[in-house]
Amino acid sequence: MNQRRTRIYEGKAKILYEGPEPGTIVVHFKDDATAFNAQKKAVIEGKGVLNNRISEFIFTQLNDIGLPTHFIRRLNMREQLVREVEIIPLEVIVRNIAAGSMAKRLGLEEGTPLPRSIIEFCYKNDELGDPLVAEEHVTAFGWATPQEIDDIMSMTIRINDFMSGMFAAIGIKLVDFKIEFGRLYEGDMVRTVLADEISPDSCRLWDFKTQEKLDKDRFRRDLGGLVEAYQEVARRLGILNENEPLPTVKPKLVKS
Ligand code: TMP
Repeated sequence: MNQRRTRIYEGKAKILYEGPEPGTIVVHFKDDATAFNAQKKAVIEGKGVLNNRISEFIFTQLNDIGLPTHFIRRLNMREQLVREVEIIPLEVIVRNIAAGSMAKRLGLEEGTPLPRSIIEFCYKNDELGDPLVAEEHVTAFGWATPQEIDDIMSMTIRINDFMSGMFAAIGIKLVDFKIEFGRLYEGDMVRTVLADEISPDSCRLWDFKTQEKLDKDRFRRDLGGLVEAYQEVARRLGILNENEPLPTVKPKLVKS
């Protein structure tokens, strides 16, 4: 593709370009990894390709069960075509097992199963470090309407149920994850749809047997082996076959 494209926005891990038709956007997945509000940065070759594939897979499955998303189709190794939406400025976090900021905030040991799944809202604002907020703040400041919150809650519960089962089937615990929603304008109608991405960048995924981390905590906590972990997730989901190693990963000796 050598024609110049209009760049709409560049985030920490993705670039958005104007799509080929009005109301569409091309999402480009970069190899950049950031943590702690971009205080820690690195380029991890191969991450963008894997996140594009994994997110495509999950969004397609969710579309198939009737959950509305912005996803249209994957275009190439690093890009996907999505519907243009107005992002609702909330990071919706679902937690099944205590970990990360919640374990720290409430003094819980990481790995403690929660009595039930917990949904949290953070206000999406990098300058403020995405602070945790209550539903009260969301409606009082008009970040989302009560109807949108209802839609978000019911879709989030469905997404958690579906994804927990999907990962359990391949020996992975869905510890927690973050999702974002958007407003899709269709004529004079507005619909709330799942947007952004779902990938090991935005989930905590632990191997059932070994408890090994298969997500971005490998980068946040300097554990190494991030691409190999994301690749393992992709392989178990059946979207990378054994003889399709990524160019960045060195060939391994396979014992017969
Ligand atoms: P936390 O425990 O650090 O609050 O993270 C909860 C979940 O949200 C975890 O699966 C990682 C994901 N997450 C993001 O996707 N983006 C972020 O900026 C942060 C802080 C967390």
